[in-house]
Amino acid sequence: MCGIVGYTGEKPAKDLLIQNLKSLEYRGYDSAGIALQDADGLTVLRRVGKVDGLAAAAEHLEDASTCGIGHTRWATHGAPSERNAHPICDCSGKIAVVHNGIIENYQELRQELQANGHTFKTDTDTEVIAHLIEEAYEGNLYEAVRQACLRLVGSYGLAVVCAQEPGRIVATRKGSPIVLAHGEDGSYVASDIIAVIKASRDVAILDDENYAILEPSGITYKDANGKDVTPHIMHVDWDVDVAEKGGYPDFMLKEIHEQPRVIRDTLAGRMVNGHLSIEELGMTLDELQTIDRVYIIACGTSYHAGLIARELIESWARIPTVAEAASEFRYRNPVITPSTLVVAISQSGETADTLAAIRLARIKGAKVLGITNVVGSPVARESDGVIYTKANKEIAVASTKSFLGQIVSLTLLAMELAQSKGKLTTAQIRVLFHELADTANQVEKILSDTTAIDEAAQATKDAHDAFFIGRGMGAQVCREGALKLKEISYLHAEAYPAGEMKHGPIALIHEGFPVIAVATKSPTYDKMLSNIEESRARGAMVIAIATEGDEEIKKYADHVIYIPRVRDAFMPITATVPMQLFARSIAIARHCDVDKPRNLAKSVTVE
Ligand code: G6P
Repeated sequence: MCGIVGYTGEKPAKDLLIQNLKSLEYRGYDSAGIALQDADGLTVLRRVGKVDGLAAAAEHLEDASTCGIGHTRWATHGAPSERNAHPICDCSGKIAVVHNGIIENYQELRQELQANGHTFKTDTDTEVIAHLIEEAYEGNLYEAVRQACLRLVGSYGLAVVCAQEPGRIVATRKGSPIVLAHGEDGSYVASDIIAVIKASRDVAILDDENYAILEPSGITYKDANGKDVTPHIMHVDWDVDVAEKGGYPDFMLKEIHEQPRVIRDTLAGRMVNGHLSIEELGMTLDELQTIDRVYIIACGTSYHAGLIARELIESWARIPTVAEAASEFRYRNPVITPSTLVVAISQSGETADTLAAIRLARIKGAKVLGITNVVGSPVARESDGVIYTKANKEIAVASTKSFLGQIVSLTLLAMELAQSKGKLTTAQIRVLFHELADTANQVEKILSDTTAIDEAAQATKDAHDAFFIGRGMGAQVCREGALKLKEISYLHAEAYPAGEMKHGPIALIHEGFPVIAVATKSPTYDKMLSNIEESRARGAMVIAIATEGDEEIKKYADHVIYIPRVRDAFMPITATVPMQLFARSIAIARHCDVDKPRNLAKSVTVE
C-alpha cells in the first residue's frame, strides 16, 4: 500500500526520491508525489498513475534541492486524484506531509480546524495533520509534529518537511513502519527497508511514538517526551539485488523459481543431531504440552497457508485447531484461554487486521507465535515467539514463494506440537523431515518442464469463470489456486470442496467450463474421480493435477498436469507450484501486469 521516502544530504534529492519511490512500486499504489525544499520554499509535484509519470513531470524541475519527501498513495479516504495525492500541505504551503495509515478522528479534527480558519484542499484524512502542525509550529518542527500527533487517533507513519527548516525532515510513526539509514551522502527515511538499504545495511527501526530528526550529517532520535533514545538497529543481510529480475521477465516468475531455495533455507538448521529445533517458539516444553487449542489467524494467501496448517496440526498433534481470517477473528468473541496458542501468519508482518487480531489474542491471555518473512516487522515484535520464513524480499504483489515458506514453517510447527504432545516419535519426525526436505527437489522438477501447464493455460485463457475443486488438503490448495488466478488474470475463479459441487456450483457448469481438479493419490482419490465425472458429464473441460505415473486419470481429464508423488501432507507444497504457473501463464496470455495487479496492494496496512 502507501509508501514513504525522504532524503536530506549532499546529492540532488529529486532523482533519489523518484528512484526510491520506484523501489516501493511493488506495494501497490494509484498516485505519487514529491515535495522538494529549495531557496523559494517547497515545490510540490503530484501525479495520478505510475511513478514514471511523476518522473516525466519532474524533468523540468531544477536539481538544486538536496532535501525532500515522497509518497506513493493507495487511496483510502478520497478518490485517487492529483489533489488527494501526497505530499499534502498546510494553508501556507510551507509544511508538507506524507502519511501512511488512517487517522480515525479526522472528521472532528477537520471541523475544528476549519472553525479555526484553515482551508482544506483535499478529501484526505491526512490533511488534518498538515494543519495541526501549522497550528503548533513556533520555529521547531519536531515539537510541532509532536504536538500534532497528540491529537491523532489511528495509525500513522509520517515524514514532514518545513520551508523554514532547510535540510531537516521529521519522521514519526504509530502502528505503521518507519525505517531510517544514514549513508555517506546523507540521511534517508522510508516506510520499507528496500528504499534505504542502498545507503546502509544497518537500518534503524523507529519505535511507535518515537521521532527521528534527519539532517544531512546524521539522525537524532527522540521519544514523545523529547528524551534522546537509541533505536533498534537491524543489519540487513539479504541480497540488495533482490529488486532486480535476474533475467526473468517478471518478479512473479523469478519468485516462483526461487521456491526450492526457500524450502531449503527454511529447513536449514532445523534438524540438529537428529532432533527438531525451533528455538524461536519462545515456549517451554511444559507450555507446549498445555496447549489445548490453536487459532491460526491471517489474511489472503497467508490465511490459505493457515488452512493447510490446520489439517496438519489436527492430524498429527490432535489439537483442535481453527484457521480464521484475521478480519473476522478480531470482531468476534473467540474462545481464548491462557492455554490457547494463536499463530499469526503474515508475509509482510504489517497487515493491519492480523496485527489487531494479535493484540486481541494477547489481551485475552493467549501466547502468540508470529510467522513472518520480515525481520523486525510489527508482527515479529508483537508476538511472543517468531518463526521467520526465509523467502527473502517478495516483490510481486501476488504471494508465491512466501506461501511455500509459510507452509514449510507451519509443517515444522505441526511436527513440534505433535512431538511435544507425544503423538509423533523422534523417528517419525526424522522421516517426515527428510521427506519434507525432498520437496525442494520435487518443486525443481516441476519447474523444469512447464509444457503441460502452459497447454492447460492456453485452453483456459479465454474463459470467464473457472472452478478449482479438491478434497482434504486438495480443497485447501484449490483456494490458493483460485485466488492466484483471479488476482493476476482477472478471470473469475472459485474454489470448492469437490463434494460440495453438487450442492449448487454444478449448476454453473456448461460446455467447456474449466474445472481444475486436484486429483493426486490421496485417501479420497476415488471420490475425486467421481466428482470429476459429475462435472465432465455436464460439459466441463477438466484439468487434473495428478500424481506422476497415474495413467487412469487420463480417462477423466482433458489435460493432466503431473506432479511427483509425495505423501498427502506435503502435497500442498508441490501442487501449489503448477497452480501458480497456470495463473501466471493465463495472466500473460491476457496481457495483464502479473507483478502489479490492479487494485491490489502488497501490504494491506489499513482495515
Ligand atoms: C495482500 C496481498 C496478498 C497477501 C495478503 C496478506 O492482500 O496482496 O498477497 O496474501 O495481503 O498479507 P501478509 O503480508 O499479511 O501475508
